[in-house]
Amino acid sequence: MIGSQKRGYGDSMFEKLTHYRDDVIESIFRRCAADTRPGAMNLSIGVFRDRHGTAPLMSAVRKAETDIVARQDTKAYVGPLGNAGYARAIEELVLGTDHPVLDSGRLKTAQTPGAGAALRVAAEMIRDLAPGTTIWFSDPVWLHQVDFFTRAGLKVAYHPYYDWQTGTLDFEAMLAGLREAAPGDVLVIHAACHNPTGADLSPGQWRVLTDFCLEQRLLPLVDSAYQGYGDGLDADAAGLRHMAAHMPEMMIAVSSSKSFAVYRDRVGALLLLHPEGGRAAEEAWLHMGDLIRGLYFMPPDLGAAVITRILTDAALKAEWQGELETARTRVKRLRQLTVDHFAETLPGFDSRYMLHQRGMFSCLPVSDQQRLRLERDEAVYLMPSGRLNFAALSEDRIPRLAEALKAIW
Ligand SMILES: Cc1ncc(COP(=O)(O)O)c(C=O)c1O
Repeated sequence: MIGSQKRGYGDSMFEKLTHYRDDVIESIFRRCAADTRPGAMNLSIGVFRDRHGTAPLMSAVRKAETDIVARQDTKAYVGPLGNAGYARAIEELVLGTDHPVLDSGRLKTAQTPGAGAALRVAAEMIRDLAPGTTIWFSDPVWLHQVDFFTRAGLKVAYHPYYDWQTGTLDFEAMLAGLREAAPGDVLVIHAACHNPTGADLSPGQWRVLTDFCLEQRLLPLVDSAYQGYGDGLDADAAGLRHMAAHMPEMMIAVSSSKSFAVYRDRVGALLLLHPEGGRAAEEAWLHMGDLIRGLYFMPPDLGAAVITRILTDAALKAEWQGELETARTRVKRLRQLTVDHFAETLPGFDSRYMLHQRGMFSCLPVSDQQRLRLERDEAVYLMPSGRLNFAALSEDRIPRLAEALKAIW
């Protein structure tokens, strides 16, 4: 019966898919989830975990959500551009409450289902308005970041970023690589806690890069996914704040997933900084809404409503800041503990470069073969590029990681 239906329809659409290759990152998650060996460690996923290995719900989030759900009397549509209160609260969180662009009329924001969707919307906007644009990424890169742009049909290119010998950002090489970019090309920059290396731009480098983008007429798209996990909420946004004060045109993709630990609720934003403001900026914003309608119609609201409540209530905000600071300092401590254990167990490996990096990630200098041996023989799962998430470690897992590395090196 099925066969005759198939013949009746001619070629099956789904059977045209004969070359599926598993997504590299997703396949790591799947392999680890299926690994039943005791102590199997997934150090690849970018989630903060506490000492018990759980990704905890923040108490400020629980309180705000409980209150909102108890009082909510409608679930009517909000619209493609999402929750306007959240958009404003995030503009202030990311740019600071006294930033000159806040009330300039040039800043227009959509609430999106996470920064992932914000990046995809940005890609759609670029493809729609300037399809010949090349999007520039750091090498190494968070691979999913690139997908949002290639799926939209855009060209991508890579600039040097990381010096594997020193574990630092090679800024000269970065600028030299970017001299190949054409005017109008888009440069994706990580606001802080670079994924995957943890190597960030210094304040001075942000200033130089801003001037460079102005001279080369590059459009910066800043991806801010870890605000509060590096040096603190304001320090982690200082570079992008400088850039936003000087660039005529810029985009900022914001994730609330990590800063509020609301990963699955899907909350983020895309901020557009328009060169003129006024009616022209309004039209760019409305156009963004049209593009969103065609992509996913509308974002969910509950997570955005919860975060808006936290950011507009002094007590909840203070509680959330305290919880985020606890998470930040825990990740820093785990970095230090890891470096200490590596020094003891792996005397030939100088891992002190990790102490100068920020956020959840650092890369281990392992080849792809060694990374796969870590999986196969030691049940330790890292991202391609050897990315390690300190926030997925715990005090008792660190010695095991050091032993596992010793076994494959
Ligand atoms: C640099 C970067 N940008 C964006 C995202 C996506 O975040 P979201 O959960 O908000 O979609 C991530 C998630 O890991 C990330 O690391």
